[in-house]
Amino acid sequence: LRALKRVVQIGTVGALGYGAYEIYGKRHPVEQKPFDPKKRTVVVLGSGWGAVSFLKSINTDDYNVMVVSPRNYFLFTPLLPSCTVGTIELRSIMEPIRFITRHKSRNVKFYESECTDIDPESKTISITDVSDVKGAVTNTTIPYDYLVMAIGADNQTFGMAGVREYACFLKEIWDAQKIRTRLMDCVESAGFASQAPEEVDRLLHMVVVGGGPTGVEYAAELHDFLKDDLETWYPELADKFRITLVEALPNVLPMFSSQLIQYTESTFKQNKIDVLTKTMVKEVGDKSIKVMDANKNMVSIPYGLLVWATGNCPRPLTRKLMARIKDSQTSPRGLLVDDYMRVAGAPDMYAIGDVTFSKYAPTAQVATQQGLYLASVFDNLARIEEGKNKKITPFEYSHQGSLAYIGSDKAIADLPFLNGNVSVGGVATYVFWRSVYISNMFSFRNRFLVVGDWMKSKVFGRDVSRE
Ligand code: FAD
Ligand code: NAI
Repeated sequence: LRALKRVVQIGTVGALGYGAYEIYGKRHPVEQKPFDPKKRTVVVLGSGWGAVSFLKSINTDDYNVMVVSPRNYFLFTPLLPSCTVGTIELRSIMEPIRFITRHKSRNVKFYESECTDIDPESKTISITDVSDVKGAVTNTTIPYDYLVMAIGADNQTFGMAGVREYACFLKEIWDAQKIRTRLMDCVESAGFASQAPEEVDRLLHMVVVGGGPTGVEYAAELHDFLKDDLETWYPELADKFRITLVEALPNVLPMFSSQLIQYTESTFKQNKIDVLTKTMVKEVGDKSIKVMDANKNMVSIPYGLLVWATGNCPRPLTRKLMARIKDSQTSPRGLLVDDYMRVAGAPDMYAIGDVTFSKYAPTAQVATQQGLYLASVFDNLARIEEGKNKKITPFEYSHQGSLAYIGSDKAIADLPFLNGNVSVGGVATYVFWRSVYISNMFSFRNRFLVVGDWMKSKVFGRDVSRE
């Protein structure tokens, strides 16, 4: 027993020592090689899943790398719904891009700016500083040898008037912040002196449009917040809170197995989340939406908070590029690429992740694997240039499963098993869900912060202060 104790002690000291060494190494990066004019320049657009996966793996001994993105951080989107209610704090799921680029062997240039135009003929991009504080130079042009498009996608609105004006999206950090503030505004205004009962009902009605994973996970997080926290701190309003999920299709989560769809819908029913399926939003006003219900009747639904999660559409830059090379880019849904992630009609341009339209779903899982794959393509290109015999094989996607949080400490998972699929749901799946996301986070720092947030919200409850 004493020997075992000793082994545990040595193991613990060793693990702590290694952890401290790792943290020290992360905080004290070594000097980097400068740009080499003899090397080719790879310009990466974006700092999301695809771009960061590519950046982590690209060998900067072979290339000069530049990154352009309006966001100087990576965002771990799967935990974004948890930030809308304060289960997790926003900064816990952000990783500064320089924490990644500064650890490469060669200096990686990062410009916090938006790419506004791409000229595939002259192989140049135009970039604009979009921050609130600007220097004397705000626009410039950058030449590239290779361009990696990883700019993701925009929120789909179907051009419906009122969506951008009155609804909240859930894609970026500021969206989660806006939802959190607006939710607390609704609650406090509902509690305002002599508020009319119908106005209290409207303000406390939270409507989510879109029954894909984003809408479902947001409704689930909102439910937990209402039950665990708001009902305690606002007892006078407790029986007035309502959540409605509106979905145009006959069921939510079409990408999950039918067993898990039923499980989600019955969990939502138990949690008193109204799910209106076969119901399509037709108009969006400042205080109500108009929907066509399952019986083809137009119905008005008043709301206090409206969250819009109806999927993706191409960003303006993607559309502009597609228009320039329209003979090769024939889909309005995203950039067409071949099996090597090469953009059709644009030499030396590659695209990965949500910016593309392909047989793969627009997920972080796909974007990450494509980023990793593309870095290996660049590695092989460098070896071929050195005269080595290397073969570039096409991209092959390996699906690791689909997971979603559905509220009350329950999650669902469709997991590939042997040649089939295993569908599981419940509290144990939730523990699995948490462990998968923690292990997939990009840094130890993020893991540490998120676990701390989970413990904090369990022990002290979520913060109901308005930010
Ligand atoms: P993004 O990660 O969106 O990154 C795009 C980058 O491009 C950003 O840095 C952006 O600032 C930058 N950019 C935009 N415009 C320009 C421009 N003009 N010039 C330069 N840069 C630009 N997927 C999963 O697999 N599992 C999940 O659990 C999951 N959960 C999700 C939860 C939510 C709430 C959301 C919204 C999505 C979720 N997804 C999930 C989907 C996943 O986030 C996306 O598929 C993934 O982000 C796509 O990666 P990307 O690199 O293509 O784009
Ligand atoms: P989505 O495209 O998956 O779902 C959007 C839903 O909105 C669809 O079911 C559609 O029928 C519905 N809809 C569209 N217009 C409507 C209208 N006018 N009225 C009512 N309903 C309408 O979009 P989502 O959820 O934003 O996801 C985008 C991508 O991100 C997907 O590929 C998804 O798999 C991925 N994602 C994955 C997550 C996970 O794995 N846990 C979490 C969140 C997103």
